[in-house]
Amino acid sequence: MNDLTGTVALVTGGSRGIGAAIVRRLAAAGADVGLTYHTGEENAHKMVAEVEALGRRGLTVRADSADAGAAASAVHRTVEELGRLDILVNNAGIFPAKPFEEFTVDEIDRALHIHSRAPFVAAQAAMAHLGAGGRIVSIGSNLTDRALFGGLSLYNLSKSALNGFTKALARELGPRGITVNLVQPGSTDTDMNPADGDHAAQQLQFNPLGRYARPEDVAATVAFLAGPEGRSINGATLTVDSGTNA
Ligand SMILES: NC(=O)c1ccc[n+]([C@@H]2O[C@H](COP(=O)([O-])OP(=O)(O)OC[C@H]3O[C@@H](n4cnc5c(N)ncnc54)[C@H](OP(=O)(O)O)[C@@H]3O)[C@@H](O)[C@H]2O)c1
Repeated sequence: MNDLTGTVALVTGGSRGIGAAIVRRLAAAGADVGLTYHTGEENAHKMVAEVEALGRRGLTVRADSADAGAAASAVHRTVEELGRLDILVNNAGIFPAKPFEEFTVDEIDRALHIHSRAPFVAAQAAMAHLGAGGRIVSIGSNLTDRALFGGLSLYNLSKSALNGFTKALARELGPRGITVNLVQPGSTDTDMNPADGDHAAQQLQFNPLGRYARPEDVAATVAFLAGPEGRSINGATLTVDSGTNA
């Protein structure tokens, strides 16, 4: 059993979508869970209520992942309030999509900061607290392996850094008993990419199962990596995209 009783997790962007499903799944497996959000305070508080209803402790931290100091201090707040840290899930993300020529430098910086710099500084902050058995899981995207349509230049630039970062960190932290892995969702039904949205049909033409994943499908993969059964998976990329990139 992948029992997480006695552990503490932090999930960035845990107030909605895939992050919220990860929060629920880790709490159901026995973890106390902190979550960050940017603007959606009400959703964040609802998630803590769900965690508490499962008999676990929950914590919300307002932290814009574009702010390196906030990303790091969310880790420290979690340890202050929940007592330790065993699992860091770098999930917070945005989907900037438009023609390449139209991106401003501010937009480029923001995406890089949220998708690449925040996981880096959060992992650095976590090193003061993670011991042997610690877990770092980042949420990338199947689109970094296969750009299926136009408009993805900035999203892919910022997300693909996680592929190299995950491998490098897995090698560096493995000797301390800490695993580092990347989960790459494909089309998953959330506010960011609704299964009944305008762009769904375009994505489903590449999808052999012919349907979006549920956030719970991605969360189950993260929970597997986070628990004792995932102990020998390190530096890996698990793609949860219904075979879209096959
Ligand atoms: N859905 C898909 O098809 C899909 C596919 C591949 C990869 N992904 C990746 O999966 C992750 C989750 O996506 P999702 O579909 O669940 O998105 P979502 O429904 O839009 O939820 C995004 C979550 O991230 C938080 N967030 C956004 N910007 C933030 C910031 N600057 N600082 C802190 N938190 C922030 C949001 O909090 P607020 O409510 O406060 O804004 C929310 O909790 C992202 O990294 C995304 O790139 C998604």
